[in-house]
Amino acid sequence: MEIKNKPEKPSGKLGILTPGMGAVATTFVAGVESIRQGLSKPIGSLTQMGTIRLGKRTDNRVPAIKDFVPLAELDDLVFGGWDLFEDNMYEASLKAGVLNKESINQIKPFLESISPMKAVFDQKYVKKLSGDWVKKGKSWFDLAEQLKEDILEFKKQNNCDRLVMIWCASTEIFMKPSAVHKDLASFEKGLKENNPDIAPSMVYAYAALSLGVPFANGAPNLTVDIPALMELAHKNEVPIGGKDFKTGQTLMKTILAPGLKARLLGLNGWFSTNILGNRDGEVLDDPESFKTKEESKLSVLEHILQPELYPDLYSDFYHKVRINYYPPRGDNKEGWDNLDIFGWLGYPMQIKIDFLCRDSILAAPIVLDLALFLDLSQRIGFHGIQEWLSFYFKSPQHAPGLYPEHDLFIQLMKLNNTLRHIQGENLITHLGQEYYD
Ligand SMILES: NC(=O)c1ccc[n+]([C@@H]2O[C@H](COP(=O)([O-])OP(=O)(O)OC[C@H]3O[C@@H](n4cnc5c(N)ncnc54)[C@H](O)[C@@H]3O)[C@@H](O)[C@H]2O)c1
Repeated sequence: MEIKNKPEKPSGKLGILTPGMGAVATTFVAGVESIRQGLSKPIGSLTQMGTIRLGKRTDNRVPAIKDFVPLAELDDLVFGGWDLFEDNMYEASLKAGVLNKESINQIKPFLESISPMKAVFDQKYVKKLSGDWVKKGKSWFDLAEQLKEDILEFKKQNNCDRLVMIWCASTEIFMKPSAVHKDLASFEKGLKENNPDIAPSMVYAYAALSLGVPFANGAPNLTVDIPALMELAHKNEVPIGGKDFKTGQTLMKTILAPGLKARLLGLNGWFSTNILGNRDGEVLDDPESFKTKEESKLSVLEHILQPELYPDLYSDFYHKVRINYYPPRGDNKEGWDNLDIFGWLGYPMQIKIDFLCRDSILAAPIVLDLALFLDLSQRIGFHGIQEWLSFYFKSPQHAPGLYPEHDLFIQLMKLNNTLRHIQGENLITHLGQEYYD
């Protein structure tokens, strides 16, 4: 990717806009504020806690990532968004039930100061939700215009220099790319004609990209993963990324599967089941939203294990993913995995994982890192799909004709090498012959 502008420390405020102000968005915003107030540490965030090795191993140059690349400071972030429930971020974070009351109350006035703008929403695309804090408009196009006004007004009111938008709203029903998505002209016609193959998430993405605002998709919906919106991203030179934050069970899968492959251990089956009781769980209880999630979760193993290269090990494994809505568990979901593997002489073994996971605790630092890295991309002139940010996604968006990279460790190497490239340092491939490379 070509670096058009020298990476420089940004000045002014960066506005982070989230369609959706539920569990993930409120945990992210409350977390940033609590870190700013010195009440917590940014655990899980690569931009805040990560380091990067530069040069030869003997050079001993391992700066913090935030000192190496010029990212926006946490103190310069402001937050806004949309939801179909009118609750401000304080009320919404209490309802989400991720953070405890005590931590939420420590930053109550701050959270109360952020209220959602009215959503672009249609229940056809998220069957289990209904709310009344919703915009009215004659067409998708009209609604996109209203979103653009919101964005510009937010920018002005908050005195922002730059903006990014991260989709933190519910998972929409499963959709495949169709004729209306094939190019920008068809898409804009479809917006005016209220084409049903256009979902609300696409209307947000269209509004953002039209105004040159980078967009990342934290859910598995199609959204920006269509030729029309990729065309718009290129036309307006805006970076985009997606899909579906890599948290919980899939994070574990992309940590474990590369290890199995590295040691050439075979796989007969991988059964994954989850119970969760938050609003996301309720939305995913609808088969059409679940289908979108299922596709995203299932794609991971095939790509990591490469059965075409290792037919004796991976050509015939059974992979099943279940999600069950179970209200008593709230946001504290439980993910069980059973792996049937085999080793030397084909002898079978099993691995069991019981991950008592807090999904939004894993997702919040991803939102932060994506916002800061997308802003960096925008400032230096990277645009289109940012494959180097695949590290953060379950279903990484990739250039047409290429396959997505799912292996967490290859993804991290790609991310680090992109940062080295941005700052004019040598890439590290770990291929050097000398012990000190
Ligand atoms: N929790 C995680 O770790 C995690 C991981 C990967 C992906 N995700 C995805 O991120 C999204 C958010 O997850 P969550 O746990 O915060 O869910 P949530 O249900 O708590 O929050 C989603 C919010 O989006 C709102 N919403 C729905 N449609 C909207 C629209 N068109 N415009 C504006 N607001 C809208 C809902 O009212 C809700 O408040 C989901 O799609 C989920 O699948 C979450």
